[in-house]
Formats: sequence, structure tokens, C-alpha cells
Amino acid sequence: MTELTGKRALITGISGQDGWYLTELLQQKGYEVHGILPSRAPGIGEAGPQLYYGDLADGTTLDSVFDQAQPDEVYNLAAQSHVRLSFDLPIYTADVTGVGALRVLEATRKFQDRAGKQVKFYQASSSEMFGKVVETPQSETTPFHPRSPYACAKVYAFWQTVNYRESYGMFAVNGILFNHESPRRGEAFVTRKITKAAARIKLGLQKSLQLGNLEARRDWGFAGDYVDAMWRMLQHDEPDDFVVATGETYSVRDCLDAAFTHLDLDWQKFVQTDTSLYRPAEVDLLRGDATKARENLGWEPKVSFARLIRMMVDHDLDLARRELRLQDMDLPE
Ligand code: GDD
Repeated sequence: MTELTGKRALITGISGQDGWYLTELLQQKGYEVHGILPSRAPGIGEAGPQLYYGDLADGTTLDSVFDQAQPDEVYNLAAQSHVRLSFDLPIYTADVTGVGALRVLEATRKFQDRAGKQVKFYQASSSEMFGKVVETPQSETTPFHPRSPYACAKVYAFWQTVNYRESYGMFAVNGILFNHESPRRGEAFVTRKITKAAARIKLGLQKSLQLGNLEARRDWGFAGDYVDAMWRMLQHDEPDDFVVATGETYSVRDCLDAAFTHLDLDWQKFVQTDTSLYRPAEVDLLRGDATKARENLGWEPKVSFARLIRMMVDHDLDLARRELRLQDMDLPE
């Protein structure tokens, strides 16, 4: 049911997985949603937000977007978010993922002054910041040890967000989100790469799957649950930083087991490891402690790892069936 809030939200990175789920959540709550995206993207347009083209590598258009959108809440979800790719594009990643967050913070601060109203800011911080972890599980008090150009950029953005809160009294928060997946997850991330391949192998559209490190362990939750935590952070009395996680950890191997077994397949027959997919430095183990979010925000994850992977495989099986039908259709040139 739609509760009419009359509030306006601006989302950077609106065309990504989280932007799409967050748009739907905010619209259900009666928000008018505005979003910035770097280029035309399928999917999000159907949800009907007001879209602006922009790239966080170029902050020059931000002021005018803010003046048009007139946001009460800003969600900075835009980033070069692929960890492996950040080793090939370290400067670009630092610019978009790190300094890009600063550009949005600064635009928020200036707009707040112009508009004469409080504007709340959410920064998509990441569990990758814990990197070479010094304790398990990781919580808000665990020190950071970033292991990639991406994670270094996220640490920079994290501290800029804290600094804007402390320097200017802004309502600026960090959500330290552990991995979160869904049928809308980009195909370059490992869960989706696995569920898509399993479905295509099942239908004979693909013969094998190349992967990197199978031993890495992650705390994988459902993106639809995690965007709710983002919103709750901005409704809290005080601006603060929160870990969002399930508290469970599984390996890439476990993910293969879950996906292929759901289709009655043995993954060992199809998967090969390819050392070029390894990272120069790996994050071996992530497991989050979301006690603070549970106690202060009343947030908890609803979808288990097993259900999440089944949901993704079922979706990818539908896509693979469609692909097969298109192949079988005798379409004229
Ligand atoms: N992408 C990918 N592709 N990862 C692989 C592969 C492969 O072929 N084979 C093994 N892996 C391993 C990676 O080495 C890593 O340890 C793990 O699978 C997860 O990789 P990703 O799914 O790419 O996610 P990530 O953990 O590096 O980062 C994601 O989660 C972060 C939150 O902790 C991204 O969404 C980040 O943007 C996000 O901040």
C-alpha cells in the first residue's frame, strides 16, 4: 500500500541492481523518485522515475540536477563497483567511486544551503573495506584493511561522509553493506555468473564455466532486503553508520553446489578454474555482524542464501528458455 510521504529522493546509480529495488521501495512509500544514470539502461525506465544523464567522473551537472530534483534524501549508489576490474582501472575507480562520492556530498551540502532545508545523505559503503579482516564477524568497530583499488576508494568515501557529518552537522550516513544479490545482479559478479551458467548448461546453451578462486567466502544476502536497511538509516533519529549483513558465510564452491544441485547437475563436470580470473590480492572471508542495525533500525534479512540462489537460478532458467525459443524460431534475415 502506498503511504503518501510527499518526499523526494535522488538516487545516483539508479540503473544498477540496488537503484532499481530502492526506486520500487520508495515509490511504494509515496516518494517522488529522481535518478542519475550514466547511459540508457534497460529496466529502470519501466519503474517511472525522473531520469537525468550524468557521470560522477564529471560533477559539473550535479548542481542543476539537484535544483530540478529538489531532494529530501540523496542515495549515492553510483560507483565503478567491480573489484577485479578496479585493478585494471585504478585511477578511474578512485575518481568515480571515491572522489565521485565527495562530488555528491559537496553538491548535497550546497543544495541544502540553497534550499534552506535538511537533506539527508546515504553513502553506499562496502564490506570490501574490511578486506584482510582483523576479526570475524566484522562490525562497525572493526578496523578497515582494504585490498583493492575499489576498496581503497570506498574507504575514502566512507571517511568523507563521516567528515561531512562532523564538520557541517549534515545527516550523512554510511551503510556498510555486505554482498547482496538478486536476479537483477550484474552478470560479472560471481553469484549471477554461476546461476546464469547453470541455467544455460541445463538447457544445452553452454558447455562449461570458467571461474577464479572457489575458496573465497562471502556473506551473501538479498538486495531487496538491503535497500530497506538504506531507507531505515535515513529515517533514524541520529545519523550513524551501520553494517548490513546476514551473519552467515558461504564459499564460491557452496554457491556452485546450491545452484547446480537445484537443477540436478554436478558442477564438477562443468567448472574449470582460470587463474586470469584471480585477483592480485583476495578478500578471503567476510561475515558481518548486523546487531546494531537489528537493534536500532529494527532491520533483519528475510531471504536465506539457499532461497536467494534458487530464486536467481529460476529466473535465469526462464531467460535461458527464452533464449532457446528465439534460437529455435526460424526468423527471416
Ligand atoms: N566476479 C567474479 N568472477 N568473482 C569470482 C569469480 C569470477 O569468475 N571466480 C571466483 N570469484 C570470487 C572472487 O574472487 C571473490 O572472492 C568472490 O568470488 C565474490 O566476487 P564478486 O561477486 O565479484 O563480489 P565481491 O565480493 O568482489 O564484491 C561485491 O561485493 C561487495 C560487498 O562486499 C561487489 O558488489 C562490490 O561492489 C561490493 O562492494
